Amino acid sequence: MPTVLIVGTQWGDEGKGKLVDYLTENAEVVARYQGGQNAGHTVVIGDRKFVLHLLPSGILRTEKLSIIGNGTVVEPVDLLAEIDGLRAKGIEVGENLMLSKGAHLIMPYHMAIERAVENRMGDKKIGTTLKGIGPAYTDKAARSGIKVVDLLMPELFREKLHNNLEYKNMLLEKIYGEKPLDAGTIYDDYMRHAERLAPFIGDTDVAVNAAIGQGKNVLFEGAQGTLLDIDHGTYPYVTSSNASAGGVCTGLGVGPTKVDRAIGVVKAYTTRVGGGPFPTEIEGPIGQELQRKGGEFGATTGRPRRCGWLDMVGLKYAAMINGLTGIAVTKLDILDGLEEIKVCTSYKRGSETLKNFPREAAIMEECEPQYETFSGWKESTAGLKDFSELPDNAQQYLRGIEKMLGVEIQMISTGPKRDELILIKEQF
Ligand code: GDP
Ligand code: IMO
Ligand code: MG
Repeated sequence: MPTVLIVGTQWGDEGKGKLVDYLTENAEVVARYQGGQNAGHTVVIGDRKFVLHLLPSGILRTEKLSIIGNGTVVEPVDLLAEIDGLRAKGIEVGENLMLSKGAHLIMPYHMAIERAVENRMGDKKIGTTLKGIGPAYTDKAARSGIKVVDLLMPELFREKLHNNLEYKNMLLEKIYGEKPLDAGTIYDDYMRHAERLAPFIGDTDVAVNAAIGQGKNVLFEGAQGTLLDIDHGTYPYVTSSNASAGGVCTGLGVGPTKVDRAIGVVKAYTTRVGGGPFPTEIEGPIGQELQRKGGEFGATTGRPRRCGWLDMVGLKYAAMINGLTGIAVTKLDILDGLEEIKVCTSYKRGSETLKNFPREAAIMEECEPQYETFSGWKESTAGLKDFSELPDNAQQYLRGIEKMLGVEIQMISTGPKRDELILIKEQF
């Protein structure tokens, strides 16, 4: 019984949520390993739309166990609001959810500091989701973070909060000219949240490994994408966690020998939200059309997503970093009606041709994409479920991607709904 990783290969929003929801039908456990409520994973079931932020997308299938791993960062107000929102829609959240003791808490000062820092950076700002993600991971690395388990030990929590806040308030007041935060208020709020979160808190590493040991089908759900990974992405325009495959091991306590498959989610074009280099960005009507037709507006912040052509240089890099065993191509239907479709095959930097992804934002800014052009198709591919029904040119585009990448296409998504999918290879 395999374990399968669903990982973004671009700058996020590839359609991971839809695929995780689909695959959860045959899985018993779904686990998030990194990130926080910066993620926005959309699942459409019939005429109902759900956007999951920290909860795994498997949560909608309430008979499955959903796990929030130690590699994530947890903002209690947002998490509780997410749970309440689902309950209000009739989705049960109870014993089917487990939250790691080891995950780090996002505190009010993390969000306050992030806002102050981003404001100061002007046009050099990262364009974060302002959810406190970066500052929370900063404290984790600095060994001053407060963990979920600390919520269960009020005196220890109080001590850690006071130690942190003394310094954070100095930063807020003296460096950023912001108002200080009140320790008593934060303590009371977090203890109230602790009471509600306590039933979910557990040893998720033990639970995941037990499931794997029992031969259960387990899904690992990545948030963000490989090019936003703190180590492998377009630093500094990245998120603050390991969104790529390596994050599974550290973020869940699962050994590398226990990850059987890694499916890279590839949007049929590319989007990016926030700042940072984007060589294949399309400025002009085609980019605007993809944005409109693809509904490319952030699921978390509502910001418009920048749109561009598929970038093989980035995708090959993502295939390597994640050890992809297959890919799922999503939003093919959004390309319907285009005259031609471009795919970037290399970058030119001055007289040099780069076939390897440069990563560093400063170098990427100087890169000119080199394209191969595919013919478009006029027919609609929306909702198709069989590869043979696809127009010839769509088939050729997909075959072209597969050949250039050297990784098999195992799923093709042709619409936002659960069943709008061409299944080429079963995962479980
Ligand atoms: P995620 O963050 O990777 O889960 O992706 P998002 O949910 O942020 O963005 C993907 C968007 O595309 C969502 O609105 C999905 O409902 C939608 N979507 C996913 N797959 C398809 C598809 O194949 N076709 C179309 N038209 N929409 C899709
Ligand atoms: P999902 O899981 C797209 C981007 C932000 C910003 C950068 C850093 O839905 O694919 P952060 O708040 O994480 O410190 O912001 O990362 N970003 C995402 N972009 N999809 C996401 O998640 C993202 N999560 C963060 O826009 O550029
Ligand atoms: Mg998203």
